[in-house]
Amino acid sequence: MKLGIPRERRDGERRVAATPETVKQLTGLGLDVLVEAGAGTAAGHSDDDYRQSGAHIIPELGLAELDVYAHVRPLEPATAQSLKPGAITVGLASPSSELPTVQALAAAGVTSFALELVPRISRAQSMDALSSQALVAGYRCVLEAAMRFPRFFPLYMTAAGTIPPARVLVLGVGVAGLQAIGTAKRLGARVSANDIRPSSAEEVTSMGGTFIKLDLETAEASGGYARELSADRGALQRQLLAPHVAQSDVLITTAAVPGRRAPLLVTREMVQGMRPGSVVVDLAAESGGNVEGSVPGEDLQVPTADGQGAVTVVGMKDAASAMPADASRLYAKNVANLLALMTKEGVVAPHFEDEVLAASSLTHDGVVRHEPTAQALHLLALENAPAPNAPSRNEGVS
Ligand code: NAI
Repeated sequence: MKLGIPRERRDGERRVAATPETVKQLTGLGLDVLVEAGAGTAAGHSDDDYRQSGAHIIPELGLAELDVYAHVRPLEPATAQSLKPGAITVGLASPSSELPTVQALAAAGVTSFALELVPRISRAQSMDALSSQALVAGYRCVLEAAMRFPRFFPLYMTAAGTIPPARVLVLGVGVAGLQAIGTAKRLGARVSANDIRPSSAEEVTSMGGTFIKLDLETAEASGGYARELSADRGALQRQLLAPHVAQSDVLITTAAVPGRRAPLLVTREMVQGMRPGSVVVDLAAESGGNVEGSVPGEDLQVPTADGQGAVTVVGMKDAASAMPADASRLYAKNVANLLALMTKEGVVAPHFEDEVLAASSLTHDGVVRHEPTAQALHLLALENAPAPNAPSRNEGVS
């Protein structure tokens, strides 16, 4: 069967869905791997590297000939429509925000797998792209902060005087937040953190950080994820966090609630309460922002309340893609491991009795299998349907 690896086309995307290493794994499964020319260039892999690993380099993939298509970013609806019925796709699909693509995949009879839907069970850890990419993003956002911070992160005791360590505060301690804590600690900062899941306290401590306990009820849902706080609880959380934010030199925010807009944790007023030269990095900027006013891909200078300077607010964008080599190395392994689960003797044939495949399948045989996405599409169709007694476009116009 033919597996296609495209050159990613979305602006700012530098990752690739297969590396020369995973091409070996995939050809070992009996697949014929076609890599679009230049697909791995930004991630550090030349066409020759792929050729030597057993792939064919194709100037432009012919979508209609592919049996399997592995990608990084969600497909465009037109790409989905160009695939042949029964083709299989594996990649990030952002089902809640890419409904037209989901619709196109179902209409084209494509069997699509969304890596975001891989269940977080031990057996599926090697396929968990949310975790692998969050790890990269958490590391990267600390480096972005350190580069903009006008001071050192570590403590220095020198003949010319003592330099105190930077105080880093991390809000939201999932995979990215834990990596941010670890990275800031390795750079020598004094790190504290907060999350609304009770189990995060121990994780913060194990990474060498100090957990900030707020006088606020915890909010953990099933599967270890956070629950959304009510409006008044959210306001209380911001109020309780304000003094901690004011005391930090660097603030990293990574809070998210699956399927929801990112929670607002830091208001503009809280940013203005920080010291001049402080840096805020909002990793959630692309999903609504944890920090009021943060703009994905932009640095903002917010004047401090004391009028003495400004705080730099960084809206992170494409954080994992900023480290395309290692992000692709991990992502491509996630893809190859999921494909291995559904491939036998060169034939990719997903069986939905497997709980990992059942949970991560988005569309199959013309049907949207992921219930929340099917419901969202249903609601969209209802919204777009004309009201029962409304005149059609040409009626009622005399
Ligand atoms: P995420 O990206 O969904 O959210 C990031 C963090 O934001 C979470 O820790 C969440 O509790 C926190 N958060 C949400 N609202 C907040 C608020 N108002 N204030 C402060 N923090 C807030 O999280 P991620 O990285 O996907 O991890 C979610 C859970 O899944 C964690 O418990 C993690 O340990 C677990 N996990 C389990 C895996 C497994 O294979 N068993 C693999 C990866 C993660």
